[in-house]
Amino acid sequence: MKTAIVYCSVHHKNTEAVVRAMAQGRDIDLYTVEEAREADLAGYDCVGLASGIYFSRFHRTLEAWARETDVLHGKAVFFVYTCGLRHREFSARLRKALRGQGCRFLGVFYCRGYDTFGALKLFGGIAKGRPNARDLRRAEQFAESLPERFSRGG
Ligand SMILES: Cc1cc2nc3c(=O)[nH]c(=O)nc-3n(C[C@H](O)[C@H](O)[C@H](O)COP(=O)(O)O)c2cc1C
Repeated sequence: MKTAIVYCSVHHKNTEAVVRAMAQGRDIDLYTVEEAREADLAGYDCVGLASGIYFSRFHRTLEAWARETDVLHGKAVFFVYTCGLRHREFSARLRKALRGQGCRFLGVFYCRGYDTFGALKLFGGIAKGRPNARDLRRAEQFAESLPERFSRGG
């Protein structure tokens, strides 16, 4: 199973830490959205879409790439995100947008990520120290479970 993760991590590189933990020592290739635009991802069986959450959504550049690219057609897809405070399932909108592309969904990994957006900065931010070692261990376990999720059929 060839796996790629396309990610965007702009605030504190929280999501980048998570996807790096997932890829470390595994057959998972990482691409930023910019790199994915130039790359040929046709040979991957499985693609992860990863970013921080900004105004309750995945980063707009990742969303735009996912909507516009045709490489996700018929592929197994999973979502990865970090957020300051999860008050709902933030991947639902992107999943809905991909419905027409015949994707198979393998699941979602999320954890909290240090957030100093706007006024939060004045108070030292929230989710300080996240993702932490436990989050990264959970991320590794999620990555470990991908082949089984893939063969189970999502
Ligand atoms: C402009 C902006 C908007 C954000 N909006 C949300 C939000 O709606 N919900 C949330 O839980 N976190 C929100 N956050 C926090 C980020 O999702 C969180 O810090 C995340 O870990 C950032 O990931 P990154 O470092 O990979 O970019 C926001 C952060 C920024 C900078």
